Amino acid sequence: MNFKGLTISVPKEIMPGEKRVAVTPETVKQFTELGARMLFEKGAGEGSFLGDILYQEAGAEVVQDVRKLYSEADIVLKVKEPQFNEELQRHEVELFPENSILVTFLHPANKANHEMVRMLARRNITAFTLDGIPRISRAQQMDTLTAMSTVAGYKAAIFAAYHLGSFIPMMPTSSGIIHPAQFLIIGAGVAGLQAIATAKRLGAKVKVLDIRPDANEQAQSLGAEIISFDLPPELAVGEGGYARRLSAEWHAREKEVLSPHVQESDAVILTALIPGEIAPVLIDEPMIKGMKKGSVVIDIAIDQGGNCEMSRSGEEYNFEGVFISALKNVPATLPIDSTHMFARNILNYMKYIVEEGKTRDDPDDEIISGTLVTKAGQIVHKGALLAMNKDTN
Ligand code: NAI
Repeated sequence: MNFKGLTISVPKEIMPGEKRVAVTPETVKQFTELGARMLFEKGAGEGSFLGDILYQEAGAEVVQDVRKLYSEADIVLKVKEPQFNEELQRHEVELFPENSILVTFLHPANKANHEMVRMLARRNITAFTLDGIPRISRAQQMDTLTAMSTVAGYKAAIFAAYHLGSFIPMMPTSSGIIHPAQFLIIGAGVAGLQAIATAKRLGAKVKVLDIRPDANEQAQSLGAEIISFDLPPELAVGEGGYARRLSAEWHAREKEVLSPHVQESDAVILTALIPGEIAPVLIDEPMIKGMKKGSVVIDIAIDQGGNCEMSRSGEEYNFEGVFISALKNVPATLPIDSTHMFARNILNYMKYIVEEGKTRDDPDDEIISGTLVTKAGQIVHKGALLAMNKDTN
C-alpha cells in the first residue's frame, strides 16, 4: 500500500495542442488498489478519448473545480511542465499546495523553464522530472522519454509519407513501374530506429547515418543501408555508450559525406542528439537548395535546436520547393497510445519513488538523483543548476 493516505491529483493539460493525460482508467485502478485517493479533472481524458465515467468506474473522484483539485493534492501527476493558466489568471505552480509533490516532464535545464523551476523551489514543492530517468535496464519500465521518442520516430515517418507527393513503395502499375521513395534517416537512436522500421514497412529504401557503431548495427538489422563514415569510434562514443559532440573538422567531414545522400533523398528524417546538449546542425541551406523539389525534411530534434539550420521551431513551411517540418510535441499527435504508454511508465516510476506514503530520498540512487529537481526550497538538479549558472555568468 505505497500510496495509503495520499491524494493524487491529475489535472487537464493546458498547453495548447496537448492531448495526453498522466493516468488512464487502468492505472487509476492500480493507484487506488495501492491505497491512493485519486482526483481527476473533469474532461482531462477527452483528448485521449477516455471519458470521465471510465475514470469514475476505476475509482477516481471526478472534479470540476481545478482549484479544489490542486488544493487537496499531496501529489500532482502531469505530462507537461506547469504553465500560466489564462482562464484562472494564475500560474499552475501557484495552485499547488506548499510541500506537495509534482511529477511531470519539466525539462529543467531549458532556459525557458528556469523561472518556473525557481517558483517550484520557492513554494517548497518536491518536483521530479521524467526526462531525467536514466536509460538503464532497471528503469526501462518507467522510461517515458524513450516511450515518447518511439512515438516521435514512428510519426516522423508518417508525416514524411503524408507530405510527399509520391508513392513510397515500389508499385507495378498499368502506367509502368513506380520506383520506391528514398528515405535518409540521420541518428539511429530510439526515435531514428522507429523511423527506420516504419519507413521500411511503408516500402521505402532507407539509408542511415549515425556516428555510433552500435546504432548502425541495429539500423542494419532493420534493413537499412548504412552510410559509412571513417570516423574513429573513440571520437564518437563517450561515457555510458552515448554519442559525443564531434570536433569542428569531423563535423565538417560528416556534412561532406552526407551532402550527396541528402540530395538524392525524397525524405530526410532528422533525429541526431547528444544527451544534454544542443543538437548538431548537419543540414545547411546549400544542402536543402540541392534537394529535389517536392522533397521533405522532418526535423524532430527541434526541442534541442534541430539538426537543420533551416528548421523553424514548431513550424512547417516550403523553402524553394522543399517542405521543412519542425513540429514540437509530436507524441501529442498520437494521444491514444502516447497516453497509455506514458501512464504505465509514470505508474511504475511512482511505485519506485514512493515508499509507505513518502518519496524516497536516496542521493546515491541514479533514478532518484537524475529526476529530483527541487526539494526543501532548493534546486538540486545538476543540469538545471549548470544551465542557470551559465545564464547568470
Ligand atoms: P537518442 O539519444 O536515442 O538518439 C540520438 C542518436 O543521434 C544517437 O544514436 C546518436 O548516436 C546520434 N547522433 C549524435 N550525434 C550524431 C551525429 N553527429 N551524426 C549522426 N548521428 C548522431 O535520442 P532519441 O530518444 O532517439 O531522440 C532523438 C530526438 O528526437 C531528440 O532530439 C528528441 O528530443 C527528439 N524527440 C522529439 C519529440 C518531438 O515531439 N519533437 C518527441 C520525442 C523525441
